[in-house]
Amino acid sequence: MKIGIIGYGSMGRMITEKLAASEKLAKGNLLVTNRSKEKLQDVPENVVVCECNGDCAKADIVFLCVRPVDLKSVLAEIASQLTQDTFVISLNGSITFSMLETIFAGKIAKVIPSVTAEVDRSQTLVCYNEKVSAEDKKVLEDLLRSFGNVIELPEKELGMGSELVSCMPGFIASIFDVLCTSAKKHTSIPEEQVVKMVLQTMCATGDLMLSKGMSFEDVVTRVATPGGITQEGTKVVYEQFPETADTLFEKTLEKRRMTSEKALESFGKDLK
Ligand SMILES: NC(=O)c1ccc[n+]([C@@H]2O[C@H](COP(=O)([O-])OP(=O)(O)OC[C@H]3O[C@@H](n4cnc5c(N)ncnc54)[C@H](OP(=O)(O)O)[C@@H]3O)[C@@H](O)[C@H]2O)c1
Repeated sequence: MKIGIIGYGSMGRMITEKLAASEKLAKGNLLVTNRSKEKLQDVPENVVVCECNGDCAKADIVFLCVRPVDLKSVLAEIASQLTQDTFVISLNGSITFSMLETIFAGKIAKVIPSVTAEVDRSQTLVCYNEKVSAEDKKVLEDLLRSFGNVIELPEKELGMGSELVSCMPGFIASIFDVLCTSAKKHTSIPEEQVVKMVLQTMCATGDLMLSKGMSFEDVVTRVATPGGITQEGTKVVYEQFPETADTLFEKTLEKRRMTSEKALESFGKDLK
């Protein structure tokens, strides 16, 4: 089985490096290409660099790791190389199957990895069009498990699903950045140490909840004893943060809708 990766940016590089290191593929069976060839100078040694997208598209499974604005033209460019057995993987959540199927009517999956794949802890989202068989799903999910867990969602949930696993590292980092910036105003502990203390506590809290099956409420109740110091802080969060959280999701989902509309225009106005 040959795997082709078109686009060697943030996601294409990550998937290539993880698959190359996984030893799931025989030497020479992982193909990669990119628009600007200088990016391809340091691909892992067991990876084959293709001269053009068409050569890469001769693989059995073809990952399209390009931005939404380039997706239509790349798919159109490789369409003549694709057969009914080719399994095409789009990494974009906003471009629908019905848009992609105007160009390629075969087996398509959408795959949304997270940056946490770098430490093999991605919660990769997948969804499939109707052409994909149970065996195809098994093969793809086995590859994706090279860098974490796999969660299948229906297409209509891929937007919010992406916010929860793919955008969430950015949300978490920005929330804790704000907390650390505020903490620094009240302490002489060096910044680097403040960040490390908070990060270690954040990861340990997640591990604690997952390993002991604790809910957020369980943790809050355990730490914030009534009338105590922690409760003063958790009260502020519960009183003032919900509005910010609502705005955050309203904004990201609106941006997602706009990206989808823009893609719809480029794929064809007759599409629903
Ligand atoms: N970043 C994330 O955390 C993340 C997470 C989940 C899903 N995604 C999705 O993954 C997709 C890729 O995102 P990314 O962050 O990896 O983008 P990126 O870093 O900008 O990489 C895109 C790559 O595609 C290449 N490319 C563009 N047009 C091409 C063409 N015609 N032929 C061959 N290669 C071409 C670009 O080459 P050049 O070097 O010439 O520009 C670039 O290396 C997007 O649809 C995004 O929504 C991203």
